[in-house]
Amino acid sequence: MTDQLVRPAGRDERPRSVDAGLRRRARAVIPGGMYGHQSAGPLPPEYPQFMRAGRGARIWDVDGNEYVDLMCSYGPVVLGHQHQAVEAAAAAQAQLADCQNGPGAVMVELAELLVRTVEHADWAMFAKNGTDATTTCVTIARAQTGRDRILVATGAYHGAAPWCTPRPAGVTAADRVNIGQYTYNDLASVVAAAQSGPELAAIVVSPFKHDAGYDQELVDPAFARGVRELCDQTGAALILDDVRCGFRLHLGGSWEPIGVRPDLSAWSKAIANGHPLAAVLGNDRFRDGASRIFVTGSFWFSAAPMAAAVATIGALRAQDAIAAMDRTGDRLRSGILAQAAARGIEVSYTGPAAMPYLTFAGDRNHEQASAFAAAAMRNGAYLHPRHNWFISAAMTQADVDRALAATEAAFAAVHAP
Ligand SMILES: Cc1ncc(COP(=O)(O)O)c(C=O)c1O
Repeated sequence: MTDQLVRPAGRDERPRSVDAGLRRRARAVIPGGMYGHQSAGPLPPEYPQFMRAGRGARIWDVDGNEYVDLMCSYGPVVLGHQHQAVEAAAAAQAQLADCQNGPGAVMVELAELLVRTVEHADWAMFAKNGTDATTTCVTIARAQTGRDRILVATGAYHGAAPWCTPRPAGVTAADRVNIGQYTYNDLASVVAAAQSGPELAAIVVSPFKHDAGYDQELVDPAFARGVRELCDQTGAALILDDVRCGFRLHLGGSWEPIGVRPDLSAWSKAIANGHPLAAVLGNDRFRDGASRIFVTGSFWFSAAPMAAAVATIGALRAQDAIAAMDRTGDRLRSGILAQAAARGIEVSYTGPAAMPYLTFAGDRNHEQASAFAAAAMRNGAYLHPRHNWFISAAMTQADVDRALAATEAAFAAVHAP
């Protein structure tokens, strides 16, 4: 959930569909219907809200329409829907027990596996959502440093808690009093923000700039190194928010390719291929702070998602899934850019191959992007006009071809020759 727009209810364009019936019922018993939840607000009106099934890279809505899935549940599905080994591991654990008086042995197995897999990690803690993970990172940084102030990039999304939610409703000034801002990829702005207040507890940073609705920006390695150095000089924690990118760009952590290691990192989404789990990973400098904070949750120690995570990490490695997503993403990018060029449509296709985002030149209110997305959806590809897309390792050449057939029809629909 990363968008902040709320669309008024009652604009279903499939009035007799199962989806429309569910929306009507939801409006009566769920505040805002579904529009206050998930990312339904900024989707074109005819998008289905309710989904029925998924297999590999295909999904079906509650009305039975089939799509190639280019959103992967907004990130959690990395190996494809219903991945056999992951589902078998989760089911085997669930058959023993899931939510118990204490964690299963699998929690230690998973912590050991994460510490072996993610390069900067000396320890792991678990939770449920990305917001839990980013918030816990911030709490650990404050506990360890004894300082309050945190820096975040303007416009970056780190979750739905008062310290970071993009929607102002219900947030007080006090919730944000210790939060300063910098501009992503602008080291001078980080230094200026660091100097303009009390000493820092932490700098929070995303692996690349993936703010909803904007062209994506890869990280400048010099910026990443500079932020690392600033944290080393000031004693602040470098927190990498790997909630969205984690295990999509590099198994060892998303900044491994540029050789910059955080002190703390936040994970969720893809780590258990769709099963509810989050993790905080950290180095030994922050172990004491991590052991002193109070964190728990009724379901945080449930064992089945942890078994799913162990299987997910095993399958990501065994399938060389990150390289596969990269290759698939490259094919999709080449195809889409060729389609746009053939029609003379000026687009930006930004971000890593496995997490792309498409914008149209001069499309300020995302009107063209929304029309494109709606046409792609009608033609069998599920993508998003304001949020980056996700490629899963389950996407075959046939899925790419199907997606490209849909985007070709979508370009035709938005482009009057
Ligand atoms: C970068 C990033 N951080 C944090 C979060 C929050 O995760 P969750 O929605 O699981 O709380 C998200 C969710 O989209 C995210 O993309």
